[in-house]
Amino acid sequence: MRNRSISITSRLAILFASVTMVTFAAVGIYLYDVLAQQLERGDDVELIGKTSLVRHLLLEAGSIAAIGGEPHPFVDAVFGHEGLILSLKDKDGRLLVMSRQPSKEIPEMIPVPASRNAEASDVHDWRTAVGTGRFVSILGAVGDPGHTPVTITIAREGSDRSAMLAEYAENLFFAVMAGSTLAAVLGFFIVRVGMRPLRQVIIKANEISTHQLNTRLSTDDTPLELRELGLAFNAMLNRLEDGVRRLSQFAADIAHDLRTPINTLLVETQVILSGLRTPDEYQAVLVSNIEEYERLARLVENTLFLARADNAQLALRPEVLDMPTELGKICDYFEGIADEADVRLDVASNDVQLQADRVLFRRAVSNLVSNAISHSPRGSAINIRAVWRREYVEISVSNNGSPIPAVHLPHIFERFYRVDPARSFSTHSSGLGLAIVRAIMVLHGGDALVESKPGASTVFRLRFMISPDTP
Ligand SMILES: Nc1ncnc2c1ncn2[C@@H]1O[C@H](COP(=O)(O)OP(=O)(O)OP(=O)(O)O)[C@@H](O)[C@H]1O
Ligand SMILES: [Mg+2]
Repeated sequence: MRNRSISITSRLAILFASVTMVTFAAVGIYLYDVLAQQLERGDDVELIGKTSLVRHLLLEAGSIAAIGGEPHPFVDAVFGHEGLILSLKDKDGRLLVMSRQPSKEIPEMIPVPASRNAEASDVHDWRTAVGTGRFVSILGAVGDPGHTPVTITIAREGSDRSAMLAEYAENLFFAVMAGSTLAAVLGFFIVRVGMRPLRQVIIKANEISTHQLNTRLSTDDTPLELRELGLAFNAMLNRLEDGVRRLSQFAADIAHDLRTPINTLLVETQVILSGLRTPDEYQAVLVSNIEEYERLARLVENTLFLARADNAQLALRPEVLDMPTELGKICDYFEGIADEADVRLDVASNDVQLQADRVLFRRAVSNLVSNAISHSPRGSAINIRAVWRREYVEISVSNNGSPIPAVHLPHIFERFYRVDPARSFSTHSSGLGLAIVRAIMVLHGGDALVESKPGASTVFRLRFMISPDTP
């Protein structure tokens, strides 16, 4: 694939050469045309000039007979002019003088009358054996008393002019070829120089690894065309850096959270093995170990859930959920825990329905209710509401209790984020509950929000968008 694609440099150099070739060829054709016309005009002027000279010589000749007897002055008139032919004929068409035999017979034409001189329009084309020639015929008068008329014809065979033009065309062809080749070579180097900033981008891109994501392209001295590419590239690096940072933070947090229960298990087991114990003592340790195992299992399960949600591997099975039923079931589930914490669960949902994956919906709301129960003061109530809004259905879970400080609010949905670090080691907190809530909402194309102000209750809201085809 790589071999087949031509580099931009070569492509531009070829284009450059093609444009030069077309331009040179057009200019060459134009120059050739102008030269051909000028040569022809020059030739015609010469032919006309010769006719005047021969007319003059005729006047000096005493009689028709004298012309035939002494043709040299007339032949001399065209002597030395390669390709020029002179013929003199009397009024009966008899040949008096012929400087040399033409390659093809000169056509007969009505000659220019003696009353005027020949002009450019009196010169005509003539197809000879060696190319296109030109000729002119005019009437002259012998210097005898009767002014006997004689037809003067001066012709030029095209050979030397054609040869000259052919040579010119040949030179032109080589000049165009050489010029285009030169343009291609120069173009190649010019484009290479012009593409240098792009090479810089490539070199920078090659330098970047996951350990060096802080490298950025400088966009100040970059040409305008590449600046946008540079900005997009830098923005991509920002996103990558952020993603990699969060991933390694996640890994570090998992390791940290695994260490505590594993250490506890290790120490407890080492202690119990250090001497002989009664069955009751062994049993007590095993029971205490179960709590740690549960914590580990929950952490692994939650982490796996988030990883799958991240990779969009969780297939949603959306169905229409009836809120009074669903929220009622969640409350039933939490009844025991709420009683134990001495809080009341208060549900109001009218007849709201929404479309969501039942299992994930329950998980999201349960996480909120579980948090609300653990942060509610004894004797207070937790309000769970479902309301229609114009574009979404909103589920809100609100509880009283100490508000979440404003600095924590933007991070509250992050993985392993806990407001009170002391709770990190509690068996019941993995710090992933709200991250899972947000992941579930993202999967549903919705949103999760929080509000918490001193003096007001803490409210978590889940917004499920209403798709236009929902009944
Ligand atoms: N209703 C609430 N009132 C006050 N603080 C809350 C509330 N809900 C959550 N938080 C704070 O947000 C933090 C993150 O909550 P999240 O549910 O993600 O983790 P967690 O409850 O600590 O652990 P997990 O839910 O994984 O067992 C909690 O540690 C708590 O400090
Ligand atoms: Mg929680």
